[in-house]
Amino acid sequence: MKKTSDFNLGLSLAIALLSLASVANAETAPATYTVKPVFGEYQDWSLLAVSHREDKKTLRAILGNSAAITAARHGRTKPWPDGAVLAKVAWKESKHPSWPQAIVPGAFEKAEAMIKDSKKYASTGGWGFAHWEGKNLVMFEEAKSKECFACHTAVKDNDYVFTAAALQ
Ligand code: HEC
Repeated sequence: MKKTSDFNLGLSLAIALLSLASVANAETAPATYTVKPVFGEYQDWSLLAVSHREDKKTLRAILGNSAAITAARHGRTKPWPDGAVLAKVAWKESKHPSWPQAIVPGAFEKAEAMIKDSKKYASTGGWGFAHWEGKNLVMFEEAKSKECFACHTAVKDNDYVFTAAALQ
């Protein structure tokens, strides 16, 4: 008889501890992880690669429109053809709330573009520099474009594009 009651006592203690543990868990770990979706025509484009800027603490997805993806698949990127558009979508890096070793997109930061038109943008290597304001693609004014272009000249021999297509 004593054995049974000891067992029962042990069992109820275990249940009490377990329920305490689950209350603690419910308080510390959010049940879901959500990120605010971003909108722009690049939503329907295909992925070329991803990148992580250690200095800026951001994660980026680099996408291409269909002209860019076709060119990448056929190795026709030196130079990229007119009509190719590359998008760089950046988020602040964040730790997954249920698995902090996983670095995931946090707050949306910006979405920028490079538009290939060798005649129109001849003075900046054939690339027009732009960014999305919500769903609208807006060209940067000249001074800002020159700043973008200046840094991208580091990869002049790669038609001013840093990204190597990792998926195409
Ligand atoms: C100080 C250097 C620097 C400046 C300034 C800069 N970029 Fe870049 N850009 C990079 C680097 C490095 C990458 C590749 C790594 C990454 O994803 O950030 C890149 C990637 C890109 C890509 C993806 C295609 C590629 O070349 O890999 C686009 C699109 C882009 N930048 C647009 C812009 C626009 C628009 C501006 C101006 C507002 C700009 N960049 C200014 C350094 C720069």
